[in-house]
Amino acid sequence: MRRKLLLGNWKMNKTSAEAKEFALQSRPLAEKAKLNNIDLGVAPTNLSLATVKENASKDMIVSAQNVHFKESGAFTGEVSIPMLKEFNIDWVLIGHSERRAYDNETNEKCNLKIKALIANDMVPVYCVGETLDEFDAGKTKDVVGKQVREGLKDLTKDDVKKLVVAYEPVWSIGTGKNASTDIAQDVCKFVRDVLKELFGEVADEIRVLYGGSVKPDNIKAYLSCKDVDGALVGGASLKIDSYEALLNNIL
Ligand code: PGA
Repeated sequence: MRRKLLLGNWKMNKTSAEAKEFALQSRPLAEKAKLNNIDLGVAPTNLSLATVKENASKDMIVSAQNVHFKESGAFTGEVSIPMLKEFNIDWVLIGHSERRAYDNETNEKCNLKIKALIANDMVPVYCVGETLDEFDAGKTKDVVGKQVREGLKDLTKDDVKKLVVAYEPVWSIGTGKNASTDIAQDVCKFVRDVLKELFGEVADEIRVLYGGSVKPDNIKAYLSCKDVDGALVGGASLKIDSYEALLNNIL
């Protein structure tokens, strides 16, 4: 049985003070989520990870938005796995479409990062999804299949047990243009089928999330889909009231 997962991606939003305020306000929500067997989390910027970890409930998942695959070295502007671990941060988003688009994050680079995270017993949330041009050309499954295969190359069945995959059609991120629940279910099932082909039955334990303009009023429909195990939410996760409504609507 896969536990539902609601993960907020704050992107480049919130100062540390704002993140702390949210963390304190989220405490009862984390308790509520736990009672209802839902995993709840947020992905703040690197500068706010420590304060959110310190001020939120211990049941709140606190995820970084990116990490470098090397332990240390001459990589200006980057943050490493030991630096995250020092603050007990053990979840990281990998390959978000904004990083793929603006920071040259390739499937190969994602693969190096995912392997480094797994070797450190951390949880990668591997983001995949097609652009509007690819969607219009009917190439969604070619693109997503390639992202899954290349991103998870050389991993074993044991490696992928804790992995989370998030399907986020790029054309629906931050645009208010939702993918239909049929598309979400179809592509999330496709992701699981590829995982099954690569790793066998363990694919049934791997959580596959949907993301892209998820809001309090549509989250329930997505999570009612058989192969959608949760949501990765940007804009609607930023305000505590909206975040609470997301949770309440999937209880
Ligand atoms: P959105 O972002 O919910 O604002 O569309 C989702 C994401 O980028 O993870």
